[in-house]
Amino acid sequence: MLTIEGVRKVYPGERRGWSRGAPVQALNDVSLAITRGESFGLVGESGSGKSTLARCILQLEPVSAGRIVFEGEDLARLSPAAMRRARSRIQMVFQDPQASLNPRMSVHDIVTEPLVIHREVMGLGARQRTERALELLALVGLGEQHLFRKPHEFSGGQRQRIGIARALATSPSMLLLDEPTSALDVSVQAQVLNLLHELQQRLSLTFLFISHDLAVIRYMCDRVALIHHGRLVEQGDCQQVLDAPQSDYARQLLAAVPSLEGIGAAHPGFGAAGPGGL
Ligand SMILES: Nc1ncnc2c1ncn2[C@@H]1O[C@H](COP(=O)(O)OP(=O)(O)OP(=O)(O)O)[C@@H](O)[C@H]1O
Ligand SMILES: [Mg+2]
Repeated sequence: MLTIEGVRKVYPGERRGWSRGAPVQALNDVSLAITRGESFGLVGESGSGKSTLARCILQLEPVSAGRIVFEGEDLARLSPAAMRRARSRIQMVFQDPQASLNPRMSVHDIVTEPLVIHREVMGLGARQRTERALELLALVGLGEQHLFRKPHEFSGGQRQRIGIARALATSPSMLLLDEPTSALDVSVQAQVLNLLHELQQRLSLTFLFISHDLAVIRYMCDRVALIHHGRLVEQGDCQQVLDAPQSDYARQLLAAVPSLEGIGAAHPGFGAAGPGGL
């Protein structure tokens, strides 16, 4: 489904005063393979390169070395038309729906925007786009009455549902979710995670799920990779890696993640069965 081979990303040091002078090695020889229909977690400290990897997958930034192969195609080598098609197949859900939804646009326009951007691929007229918007709202637990409201008229959880609906508009096969519930209250977090879990099963989606919260990763993911200073230090079956990390780096990294301790206290709604238990 998605194969990442030896990817490096170096940011030139001069820019915007980030560690002035010295270049930043944001990704260093990252390789992983995500199979169709699985939920793959990516865990690491702040600044470890998680979002950079997501941006490189989406081709928002060129990689410095290595290859990203999605559905059999090397993304860096696609023709513009093939790239547009691939872009409609991988969509992103961002951390902060407040910041990622345009406050001046109606839900209708937000959710149908990807259909307009990808109209060549999607081939939907205005009326069909509105029908699709209603379908998408139903999919994320919102209704017709929400169609012409603006983002500020919604709660944080509802706003993230709108962000998810937008991400699903083009019927992608893969979602990159960058801390999709970190900005939400714990109780709302569980509802949105349940929704994502349900959508993943129902639509046979493949997830790359970025989080620093191990309870969330445990609930959402089949496999997980740990990233440290731009390098993958360990990857494998979720439970195995989180319960019995093999490398020293991984042990340090897991120890540094605060929610590893006292998961129950930090997430009163997360029993052993995960947020589904709520
Ligand atoms: N546009 C940029 N120019 C220069 N350096 C950058 C740029 N974007 C990110 N970096 C650097 O690359 C490294 C990885 O950043 P990235 O945003 O991928 O981290 P992250 O794991 O997503 O962190 P967080 O958990 O805080 O979101 C950091 O050292 C960061 O300072
Ligand atoms: Mg990030």
